[in-house]
Amino acid sequence: MGTLCPELDALLQPRLRRARMQHTPLPDVPELRLWLLNADFPSASLNPDEIRSAMDYPAYWAFCWASGQVLARHLLDNPAWVRNKTVLDFGCGSGVAAIAAAKAGARRVIACDLDPDARVATEVNARLNAVELYLAADFWQVREPLDLILAADVLYDRANMAWLPRFLEHADAALVADSRVRHFSVPNYHRVGGGRSCTWPDLDEDEEFRQVSLYMGARDR
Ligand SMILES: C[S@@+](CC[C@H](N)C(=O)[O-])C[C@H]1O[C@@H](n2cnc3c(N)ncnc32)[C@H](O)[C@@H]1O
Repeated sequence: MGTLCPELDALLQPRLRRARMQHTPLPDVPELRLWLLNADFPSASLNPDEIRSAMDYPAYWAFCWASGQVLARHLLDNPAWVRNKTVLDFGCGSGVAAIAAAKAGARRVIACDLDPDARVATEVNARLNAVELYLAADFWQVREPLDLILAADVLYDRANMAWLPRFLEHADAALVADSRVRHFSVPNYHRVGGGRSCTWPDLDEDEEFRQVSLYMGARDR
């Protein structure tokens, strides 16, 4: 378990006073370590202000989501998916999928998240895992050609479904990890695998949210 990360604690503690970040290997991807919320955080004893703040400002980056773990595992086990490619991780959160892509041999990895705190967390986690990533606040800022777009657990917000066809206008392929959408049916996307994992630290989510599917989207030839 890790010691202290003042940079990320400073982002978390104004909202969750007793929270702290600790670095820990991921249960299903032990090759990677991430700074995440302390597993013994006393969530049952949050006061109303803290609950409101956690709802208004969900610190997604303080968790590694089940889909992120499954996608990272898949990339490390199948490095050919990313080797020598330019890859963008959309909704990077803690940076888990971007870091796995870099470790698996991607030529260049861009980590993109709307949340500025997620970008700080991704930068800190990239340092922890000794990989180089490029950060983007906004997908539209990225002008270079992309080989592959990764997206793990971004479809909890159904508005993000609209990104899936768009991804294939900007990259040759997209790999989406998801456990939230029950009947996934998007033109040009096909299920290519999956796995079981859990969000870490464990949020005690229902079993259905631990069953992650991987969907590959590819441009029409
Ligand atoms: C549930 S977290 C998943 C984080 C990480 N991919 C993982 O699997 O652990 C979703 C992340 O997507 C980001 N996000 C959601 N919609 C986005 C969008 N339209 N553009 C960029 N980032 C987005 C959120 O800010 C959040 O950090």
